[in-house]
This record gives sequence, C-alpha cells and structure tokens, in this order.
Amino acid sequence: MQGKTVYVGMSADIIHPGHLNIINEAKKLGTLTVGVLTDKAIASYKRLPYMTFEQRKLIIENIKGVVNVVPQTTLDYVPNLKKLKPDFVVHGDDWAKGVQKDIRENVCKTLKEWGGKLIEIPYTQGISSTRLNKSIKEIGTTPEIRQKKLKRLIDAKPIVRIIESHSGLTGLICEHANVEINGIKKEFDGMWSSSLTDSTVKGKPDIEAVDVTTRLHSLNDTLECTTKPIIYDGDTGGKPEHFVFTVRTLERLGISAIIIEDKIGLKKNSLFGTDVAQSQDTIENFCHKINMGKNAQITEDFMIIARIESLILKQGQEDALKRAKAYIEAGADGIMIHSKEKSPDEILAFCEEYKKFKSKIPLVVVPTTYNQITENELIKAGVNVVIYANHMLRSSYPAMVDVAKSILINERSYEANDKCLSIKEILNLIPGTR
Ligand code: SPV
Ligand code: MG
Repeated sequence: MQGKTVYVGMSADIIHPGHLNIINEAKKLGTLTVGVLTDKAIASYKRLPYMTFEQRKLIIENIKGVVNVVPQTTLDYVPNLKKLKPDFVVHGDDWAKGVQKDIRENVCKTLKEWGGKLIEIPYTQGISSTRLNKSIKEIGTTPEIRQKKLKRLIDAKPIVRIIESHSGLTGLICEHANVEINGIKKEFDGMWSSSLTDSTVKGKPDIEAVDVTTRLHSLNDTLECTTKPIIYDGDTGGKPEHFVFTVRTLERLGISAIIIEDKIGLKKNSLFGTDVAQSQDTIENFCHKINMGKNAQITEDFMIIARIESLILKQGQEDALKRAKAYIEAGADGIMIHSKEKSPDEILAFCEEYKKFKSKIPLVVVPTTYNQITENELIKAGVNVVIYANHMLRSSYPAMVDVAKSILINERSYEANDKCLSIKEILNLIPGTR
C-alpha cells in the first residue's frame, strides 16, 4: 500500500456501521480521501440530507483513517477522480443497479485512464439508511430544524416544489407522497398554507375573514404530523403594526416563510383579477411593511416574501419590475410574481427581465391558471420555488360531492364503495390507529 491513494464518495448523513466498514476497508489500501457529497449533489437524486454539508464534513474528518475530506459537488465521481487520480475507489456493492449504475460505469471507465481499480465491499446487512430515515421521520422535527430547511432547499435544488396543505391529512400526503422515475426519487419539498383553501374548508370566503389565530390553530394539525417546511400565505399582512406580531408568531412555530401581497383594503382572491374591485398598495407603504417585518424577526432564517399583484391588476410589466426592485431594496427575502392568465407568457416575460437584475432574491410562482408550464421550463426561466396552491382541496371536493350524490340517488352507500378508501385502508392509514 506504500504511496497508494484511495477515494470514497459518500453522503454521510446518517452514519452507520456500513459506512465505517467501507472506510475501514478503504484505509487498508492507502491514504484515504473521502468526497462528501454536497447538498446539491444529494438533492439531485433524493431528499435533502438532515445535516448540512459542514456538519457532515466535520463528522467524516473525525473518523479514524480518513486523511483528507473534499466536497463532491456532483453525483458523478469523474470530476473529483480526474483531479485526485486515486489508485482505488471503494464503494458498497449495491450500486450496480438503479440511479447509480451509470455513475459506477463512469468510475470504472475513468479509473482505467491511469490504471486505477474499483473495489466493491459487500453491502452491510441488517442496517440501512432508508430504514433509519423512516425512524427519524417518525421521531419528528423541531421548529428550528424545520424552519431552516426552506433556505437549504432553495440553495440545493434547481426548483423547490411546494403543495398546498389545509389539514393534518393533506400534510401527511405532502410528507409521504413520492414517485421514483428512472431511479430518481421525487417528492414535495414542503407545504403551502393557502388563505383560499384555509377559508374554503371553513366555509368562509377568502377575504381575510378567517383571522390569523384561527388559521394557526388549523395549521397546528399539519405541524403535528409533518417535518417538511411550510410557507404561510399571509394575505396582505394586515396593518404593519399587526404584521410584526404575525412574523414573530410564525417564526416561533417554525414556519419558514410568509408571503404577503401588495394589496390594501378588502382583499379578494387574486384569481378574480379585475373582475372585482381590488386596490394595490403604494410601493412606499408596502416597503415599510416589509421593513417592519424584517426588523421584527428574531432568527436569520425566517423569510418574508413579497408578492407582486401588478399583473393580476393589469398594471403592466414595468410596474411589476419596479416593485420587485423596490421590495428587494426594502429587505424582502423573496419575490412572488402572480398571474391569472391562461398562458405563462407574462410570467416568462417578467422572469426574463428579472434575470437581468443585479441584486436578485429567490423567485416564487404559483402556476394555477397557466399550469401547462412544466417545472423544467420554470427552472430555465430562473424560478426557484413553485407552489401548487390549492390542489389538495380542489381534488377532494368533487370526489366528496360525487359520493354524497351517489348516496342520495341510491339511498344507500353501496354504489359508492369504489370511490371510497376501504375500511381496511383507512384503519391502516394513520400509524397507531390499531
Ligand atoms: C392562495 O392559495 O390563497 C393564494 C394563491 O393566495 S391564489 O389563490 O392564486 O391567489
Ligand atoms: Mg391567498
């Protein structure tokens, strides 16, 4: 082993004996460098790690036998291998299939360039990160950990995917719904607490009639059974003197961000556009509100996102861009640009100009009416966060009406069986029911 070098790449989030086994075997072969995957590299194929890159790096640096630690910024090993030209790469033998298959092939091909070798260690039985991850989720989270997650996700992901939740149950759907396509795991990154759906489930109009305290009571149900970050729809934010209390309350609960819209007076839902009377706030007043909120918050992590209603209210692109600049200047942590057009054109035009801003903050969109646009197209336009703002409620309502009518028509529920979760399924839906 004299003078030989070894490279191991790992996420190192939930360290278990399997990792230590690989490190132990690797260090026998020579001087060991561990490439710790950055948040971005990990988020490109699965959930964000629990620990930050700095925390994971610190742990690996302190494991016996590890001589160097470097960041691995892509899932692909090749850039680091070309730099380090190790004699050996050591990996568990569980990556020949699935998303890592191509990565493995590229490692073999690259190592050949200088006569390096891939050594595969048998997978450690009886322990798995997937199982540990499930247990960690069951333990839950803390307000602080949850709150910080949104900024980390924005930094790590090409786009952060948020879905509306108005109850514990919809929170659970957001928390657990996932699909795997070509080995890439996809899930929602967090939840949107929508004023429209929060009001609608209470049978109330979306006009700020459901007060903040009441909305937070309901939101508590989501907080109780989920760990993902939450963005709160703060409507107009109310009077600046009241807004400061909302900010502090949300921060204390571990909410990651509030979005406030630049409207005044009786707020109506944006998707009415100019069909109902709605007034926009002055730039000066709205900047003052943002400023009051920013001064009130205690942590660095809470985000105040300014929502621009210029396109909704037909005030034009110029006005929207002017406001974006002013709100950034006032200290906003994000800009949400909204539209109720069927086509994404005006949003894309805004994004094009926004790209040219010298000082930029994360950009949020809510493609409800222009929903033919794909996440990939939004990424290309420079969007950082996409919110599916009302889909849990909108999908459940027609299903419920359908079943209610079926019972009325048939004078029994038998015909509705296929439209309902079976009793067995509902009894198994929530852990601990049995
Ligand atoms: C909400 O979900 O309440 C929103 C988004 O504010 S929108 O309904 O499009 O105005
Ligand atoms: Mg709303």
